[in-house]
Amino acid sequence: MVEGIRPHSVAEAGKREDNGPVMSDCNTRIIAPSLLAADWSKVGEEVRRATEAGADWLHLDVMDGHFVDNVSFGPQFVAAVRPHTNLTLDTHLMMTRPDHYLDRFVKAGSDRITVHVEADHDVAATLGRIRAAGLQCGLALNPATSFEVVKPFLDRIDLLLVMTVVPGFGGQAFMEAETMPKVAAARAYREEHGLSYHIEVDGGIDQRTVAIAASHGANVMVAGTALYGAVDMAAAVAAMRE
Ligand code: DX5
Ligand code: ZN
Repeated sequence: MVEGIRPHSVAEAGKREDNGPVMSDCNTRIIAPSLLAADWSKVGEEVRRATEAGADWLHLDVMDGHFVDNVSFGPQFVAAVRPHTNLTLDTHLMMTRPDHYLDRFVKAGSDRITVHVEADHDVAATLGRIRAAGLQCGLALNPATSFEVVKPFLDRIDLLLVMTVVPGFGGQAFMEAETMPKVAAARAYREEHGLSYHIEVDGGIDQRTVAIAASHGANVMVAGTALYGAVDMAAAVAAMRE
């Protein structure tokens, strides 16, 4: 346990004692720096930097080199990060077979796990396994994927991740036209059906685009470059929360 870090409380991770999913408020603005943009030569320091900067979640971009054209890190990296923060670990599996690796990311200390609807797995089964493990489950869709594709799963997720770039790399441009209509559709569907999933956006989110995403209905803002690239991360987090 790292000195000074409060023990990671189950309640903070949105998990009840009975390990059932807890629906946190999907209208609260949540800021989630992406560790993809951090200086990996000092990852413990960078994790503490985000924690002390007042971030709400820490977004972990896992890439398998097959589902996306890049490789980032795996479960051992998540386990290394875990003791350095009590922030919710928001693990984004950009993997072709997230079902095959799921247990290792649960064991590593993730609080929430998001899988892609385009990946090669039984989506409903994977989402059920994430919840059965006592974690919050998320479903992601790429810019080219229609909102219709995720509709069958919306009543069994805690979070919908609308990718606002083609996944694989940080520092790309926000794809407004292709993705904001889907964010708006996700909000409308949620209200219409009395659901309460978070709407998360990831990719090209900065002080300008965060307002566009929020105005369409997103409440969880993932940002790598705009937060880890900021001279004053706390100020950048506070500004993004406005
Ligand atoms: C894409 C990654 C990135 C990362 C954020 O695969 O998911 O979107 O989180 O990147 P920035 O904020 O630098 O665009
Ligand atoms: Zn991500």
